[in-house]
Amino acid sequence: MKLFLPGPMTLLLSLLISMVLLRSDTLRAVQASGVRAPAVSHGVARWKAPRVADATQTPPVHHIQAGGTTAPPGVAAPSSQTDPFAPVYLVTSRDTWQGIRGLARDAVARRDSTGTPLVISETRADRLGEISRYVHVSERRCGGYFAFPSRAQAEAFVSADRAKQAMTKSLAAGYTLDNQATVSRWLPQVQEQRLYDTINHLSSYRNRYFASSHGKTSAEWIRAHWQSLAAGRDDVTTELFTACTNCSTQPSVILTIQGRDLPDDVVVLGAHLDSINGSNPYDPNQHAPGADDDASGIATLTETLRIALADGWQPRRTVKFMGYAAEEVGLRGSNAIAQSFRASGVNVVSVLQVDMTNYKSGAVTDMKLISDYSSTELKNFFISLFDTYLAPMGLTRSSVACGYACSDHASWTNAGYPAAMMFEAGGPNGSFPYIHTPQDTLATMGESAQHSVKFTQFALAYLGETAKTRGKVTGGPAQVLPVQ
Ligand code: BES
Ligand code: ZN
Repeated sequence: MKLFLPGPMTLLLSLLISMVLLRSDTLRAVQASGVRAPAVSHGVARWKAPRVADATQTPPVHHIQAGGTTAPPGVAAPSSQTDPFAPVYLVTSRDTWQGIRGLARDAVARRDSTGTPLVISETRADRLGEISRYVHVSERRCGGYFAFPSRAQAEAFVSADRAKQAMTKSLAAGYTLDNQATVSRWLPQVQEQRLYDTINHLSSYRNRYFASSHGKTSAEWIRAHWQSLAAGRDDVTTELFTACTNCSTQPSVILTIQGRDLPDDVVVLGAHLDSINGSNPYDPNQHAPGADDDASGIATLTETLRIALADGWQPRRTVKFMGYAAEEVGLRGSNAIAQSFRASGVNVVSVLQVDMTNYKSGAVTDMKLISDYSSTELKNFFISLFDTYLAPMGLTRSSVACGYACSDHASWTNAGYPAAMMFEAGGPNGSFPYIHTPQDTLATMGESAQHSVKFTQFALAYLGETAKTRGKVTGGPAQVLPVQ
């Protein structure tokens, strides 16, 4: 494994940590019978990996207790919010599971509605950071997953999956490009300083980790800030979304602008508001500034909102700006929202995800459209938006696969809604090198928010062309009109 190159002191420390972990695991194994004690390797307590065949061919017989946990009767399932040894159930791609199988156990093979092979497995709350870090560092790709507090919830999530519908379905009315009057007025109004200030503020919290007090106060700041931008508007409301059973004390933030003509159609713009330190992920005092990942996305949404509201804009469709809780621990906030919208039949017509918008180094394109786990029709529309509004300013685009469940658009895709994501291209050697480290700061991005200006322009084009402007009935068949 490329991840660890231990020196003598590190080895000694690792040995000590292993002994402590092994002892704790052994204790839990006694408390909750049926939980195997882990094997120890590379200084990290691990479970013995089942053979790959277990996960890919014949799912092993699995005994699930009432309530969906593996705790024996009479033993309350510990809360993953407070107990580092609490079980967490992961839904990953089969590839990701193969990389992390030393850290997860009792794997069962499943497929989603698109036929993608998935694995449901069990890990421990304190191992989630190591799982992401392993895939990022060792395999140089995203190792996304959905996380659940019980195996029954993970199973229900996979059975109810509607990804195929979300990725292939065409909207009855289609997406149209015919609101240049509004969008062209907005684009020159983006202020780099305001983007900088928001990123600077959000990255000055010790962290925005979902289970720390800072994770809650930073979310509350976003809500208050968004509300202040809507002063004097009685058609704009903000709320803290707390109906997420595994988001600890971190709320998601939702700002709604009521649609004037088509209020039941909902347009979503989202970014995750939490952050994580991949080396120290279970410490509530971890240093995780998360300036690029994803204060830059929240700043992009905030500046988009500011410009639209300062313009006195009223949309035809209802618009929801969302800051998602707990993305870094398995897309928990966005999944809770998407599932609750699905359950109450909300008609979400499109979702834009902005996650990492401020890093660019060297000769790379300005934006990458995420190619996988998104709506084909919405991706095509993103390309039309880019080519109509951003390409004439000299900006360039490309596309890249992100992997299963790499960011919050996947929650919407899973719930059957059309979602897509625009992403920074990073550098010639790959994506942002300081992701999930204390160096994810404005300082390592040239003390500038210039790159996020472009994403804000993209988000403004998306907003104006999906939600449209009140009273302007353009309608008609799906069409992409060239800019005059
Ligand atoms: N912003 C990242 C996603 C990302 C990183 C996309 C690098 C493309 C390149 C996101 O916050 C993240 O870290 N996602 C995790 C998965 C999540 C479910 C824990 C990941 O990619 O491993
Ligand atoms: Zn991240």
